[in-house]
Amino acid sequence: MRRPFIAGNWKMNLDHNEASSFIDELSLKFKNKNDIEIAVCPSFTSIRSVAVAAEKEKEKNNHFNIKIGAQNIYFEKSGAFTGEISADMLRALGVEYVIIGHSERRVIFKEDDELINKKIKSALANGLKPILCVGETLEIREKGKAVEFTLNQINSGLDLIDISEIKNITIAYEPIWAIGTGKTATPEDAQQMCSSIRMKIEKLYKKEIAENIIIQYGGSVKPSNISEIMEMPDIDGALVGGASIKSDDFLALINY
Ligand code: PGA
Repeated sequence: MRRPFIAGNWKMNLDHNEASSFIDELSLKFKNKNDIEIAVCPSFTSIRSVAVAAEKEKEKNNHFNIKIGAQNIYFEKSGAFTGEISADMLRALGVEYVIIGHSERRVIFKEDDELINKKIKSALANGLKPILCVGETLEIREKGKAVEFTLNQINSGLDLIDISEIKNITIAYEPIWAIGTGKTATPEDAQQMCSSIRMKIEKLYKKEIAENIIIQYGGSVKPSNISEIMEMPDIDGALVGGASIKSDDFLALINY
């Protein structure tokens, strides 16, 4: 009984004015007809205005239930870490989810598995729900090592994470070659990887945990391809970048 989960990763787009207009536009046409979990992950500077706009719309329409995610955290609670933001600070703004280990953080900002694992632990310890991103490069896929590579990222990302915490974690399988490129993994390829991830979770924890964990696919998901992706048995949702920053597209995604 896994509840589908569609999240928009806005990346470095939408300033705080654009972000609150997005919420206003979304609420005008909003119907959560699929009964799914929905989140948007704005830039840090737009979180507060999204939270305020979403709260206001929810007062008018109780069904308008949009969760807020952040795109990153630092693992320390507070202190001399110039430019960084803690899980606590985000909780205080009403943030529920946090994307951790996105390939853009891994590749551009050189985040390694050890740092990602620390961030996952910090998020959980401070009441945020991590969305752990994993996925291979094209080179790795062409060498036939995609599954091994991705499952290793799962292994390290979840290192020493207790079984009781897993219900708060979402996994996002995002093959790097499919992100922002217009190239989507075929639903079958994505399904195969998500099924391997589920089996890995069973091995690391137990069957019941594996059956309940939410696994998203991400990489060039758009209104025209989301339904075939969501039909796959081990894909429970989508983490969407480019197609999530226009309210009409996002609406079409959540009504897939
Ligand atoms: P995309 O990005 O949908 O633009 O490919 C997905 C992501 O990076 O989360």
